[in-house]
Amino acid sequence: MASSLTYANYDRRQLFSQSEQQRSYAQHVNPIWVKLLDALGMNVQYTHCSGSELYTRDGRTILDCLSGYCVHNVGHNHPHVVAELVAELQSQSPAMLQSNVVEKAGALARILCENASGKVSKAFFCSSGSEGIEAVIKFARAHTGRTDLIYAAGAFHGLTCGALSLMGSDFWRESFGPMLDGTHEVPFGDLSAIEKLLVTKKIAAVILEPIQAEAGILLPPADYLPGVQKLCQKHGALFVLDEVQTGMGRTGTFLAGQRYGVAPDMIVMAKALSGGLVPCASVLMTEEIYKSVFHSLRRAFIHTSTFSENSLAMCAGIATVEVLQNEGLIERANSLGMEFRDQLRTALGPYEMVKEVRGEGMLTGIEFRAPRSLSMRISFEAFKAVHPGLFGQVLVMRMFNDKDILAQICGNNFMVLKVAPPLTVTESQLKYCVESIRSVIETVHSSSVFWVDALNLGRRAMSL
Ligand SMILES: Cc1ncc(COP(=O)(O)O)c(C=O)c1O
Repeated sequence: MASSLTYANYDRRQLFSQSEQQRSYAQHVNPIWVKLLDALGMNVQYTHCSGSELYTRDGRTILDCLSGYCVHNVGHNHPHVVAELVAELQSQSPAMLQSNVVEKAGALARILCENASGKVSKAFFCSSGSEGIEAVIKFARAHTGRTDLIYAAGAFHGLTCGALSLMGSDFWRESFGPMLDGTHEVPFGDLSAIEKLLVTKKIAAVILEPIQAEAGILLPPADYLPGVQKLCQKHGALFVLDEVQTGMGRTGTFLAGQRYGVAPDMIVMAKALSGGLVPCASVLMTEEIYKSVFHSLRRAFIHTSTFSENSLAMCAGIATVEVLQNEGLIERANSLGMEFRDQLRTALGPYEMVKEVRGEGMLTGIEFRAPRSLSMRISFEAFKAVHPGLFGQVLVMRMFNDKDILAQICGNNFMVLKVAPPLTVTESQLKYCVESIRSVIETVHSSSVFWVDALNLGRRAMSL
């Protein structure tokens, strides 16, 4: 006979107290993550989040300049998104029947395709960016009858096996191989490297982020994306943009590709499409690609997923686009973002370690370089030897602990600090952010405290 569930033996209040949950997390989920947050002094207990602010149990208000890696474009717990989700739950409408036409999926698909403009007219829904990339790989192969795929160096497309095969970084791949065969890396921005591969006629798709986020907020040369599109058309390959991080208004246009005037064959969206509340992702595609995959009764469900059109996700997606539109958040991201970077450039200009401030909309990167002056250079090289990400991580830690700002360094470029607040961030919050970043960078250049902290953090990290 099966044993009874041990859950019944717990005292519910004890199990759900915040400290007990922390202990359970450390024991049963990911102890190293807990230790890392502890070492950084970033393991705070959040009570609630609203707009661009995160509130902690010990009374701090933290300005969110990470947005959960570009999930919270409309701000945390936006009242309209929350209200729509509550109404959906209370309506007791059908959810996950898998046997009906999900009307809201139709509405969201139409909204996304219309806003994407260009040639896409069909949407496949799923629950994460990686899942969207997996769908793209299958659809591109089905449509072209070819196997191979091109991706750019520094790309981040997700950590499932197919998506990981489109990321060259040994760090992410180590011990998880073998990866998919027939994936080819090219330098981001290099058209001739793409053409050399396309002439083999083996390439099903070229898959790129329009602006590479985790590579360090890398903007493409102006003629790059239109050039890739043209080459793909010429050689019969599909042109795919991964807008998982850049879409939903983040870069000051609905999709970042629109800034460069391209019309991709497929577009992957995720993250902010969820309204920050319910996982939701989508692959937008042309009619022809749809027909290649779902071309007959027998193949009506040839690619699907249990949670793909779940009503809460569809509701969150629709409500989030409504907020973007009703509050003019995309245009606002464009103009406020430009102003923010101008202010940053002025404030950070005097500091030798600041190499460049760049970005579009509310996606900004501050790139650092090794210091030239001898005193800083010795410390910098010593920390780099401990871990290449140590410098950036101490910056993040100082901003969090001294300035109550949550930001992060880029996943594939530790010398770039990413600043990506919700698009609802206020002008005064951005001003505070500029002054706080300046003040932390001043400490880097003028005080040994920053470097001593880095050394201590390095020692703590080594003992994890
Ligand atoms: C550009 C890009 N593509 C794909 C992904 C993978 O998305 P997910 O984590 O939802 O699987 C990410 C995640 O950060 C991303 O930034």
